[in-house]
Amino acid sequence: MRYLVTGGAGFLGTALSNRLARQGHEVLVIDDASAGDPSQLLPEVQFVRGDINDKALLWTLLPGVDCVFHLAAKVSVPESQLYPRDYDTVNVGGTVTLMEAIRDMKVRRVVLASSGAIYGEQDVIPFKESSEVHPLSVYAVSKLAAEYYVRTIAAQCGVEAVCLRIFNAYGPGQRVPNAHPPVIANFLKHALTNGSIVVHGDGSQTRDYVYVDDVVNALVTSATAKGIDQEIINVGSGVETSVKELVRLIVQVTETKPEEIYNPHKSGGVSRMAADISKAYAKLNYLPLIPLETGLRLTIERDPQLRK
Ligand SMILES: NC(=O)c1ccc[n+]([C@@H]2O[C@H](COP(=O)([O-])OP(=O)(O)OC[C@H]3O[C@@H](n4cnc5c(N)ncnc54)[C@H](O)[C@@H]3O)[C@@H](O)[C@H]2O)c1
Repeated sequence: MRYLVTGGAGFLGTALSNRLARQGHEVLVIDDASAGDPSQLLPEVQFVRGDINDKALLWTLLPGVDCVFHLAAKVSVPESQLYPRDYDTVNVGGTVTLMEAIRDMKVRRVVLASSGAIYGEQDVIPFKESSEVHPLSVYAVSKLAAEYYVRTIAAQCGVEAVCLRIFNAYGPGQRVPNAHPPVIANFLKHALTNGSIVVHGDGSQTRDYVYVDDVVNALVTSATAKGIDQEIINVGSGVETSVKELVRLIVQVTETKPEEIYNPHKSGGVSRMAADISKAYAKLNYLPLIPLETGLRLTIERDPQLRK
């Protein structure tokens, strides 16, 4: 099959593109390299540097494409609060541009990498796809808007659409920017350099950490699974882990003694997050294979950025 992966030079996009290429598929990537690194893509992946809002470029890439994986986005919650317009331009506007191009070129299916952040605070844990959503950040709002645009435009023009609400993904290849780094990559880096692990809040907040290979399994299956048009499907580990417990595991697997600092003055974000993954199992035969402790060990083993 022929695939286009938007944001394919990013953390999840690289893992997905390389997996598809290894399976023998033809893979095109469009990424503006604002946060991604195309050098990590296998040589057989065709990389095109470009903006997701460039419709003319998308037109040249889409002929013959069977399925588009839409991952291009700006992904930082705190940054989104500072620059809402940029998040709207890329995450919402970029999605609409892509959907117009998909409509024009009659692609069969689009799979959107959406986010568990859309749920916000919920009374019932784990979160089901049928729960009312309460997006609490500009990032979450932009992903929710993207879901609506993808499903609405796809339905109008006979394209199949699937939205995967991915929870906290982690694994080798996740970048650690100085500002607003993702939690696991950040904690591992600091533990392995005997620095300080700084936790926002008291560490009782929980998240659903899912290993990159499990996310890629769900994405790949979504390209061809039957009976999932217009579906929204959670992709997580199904396990709720507190940040405090995450720190304990990181100290254990790294065999280090980083200083642990809890900052009660800074909000730890949503108090609880965990995905109900029964729909993913029913629709995609999805079962997460890598428990958190194993995933942390694999991340250290396989990520050259983390080797001491
Ligand atoms: N990693 C997670 O935990 C997680 C969780 C939920 C959802 N998601 C979603 O999955 C997708 C991939 O996330 P990631 O963690 O790999 O992030 P990432 O930042 O590594 O990847 C995003 C990619 O999009 C590219 N990009 C940004 N703006 C662009 C533009 N205007 N035009 C073209 N490309 C552009 C970046 O260069 C980057 O390579 C995103 O849509 C994100 O919202 C990720």
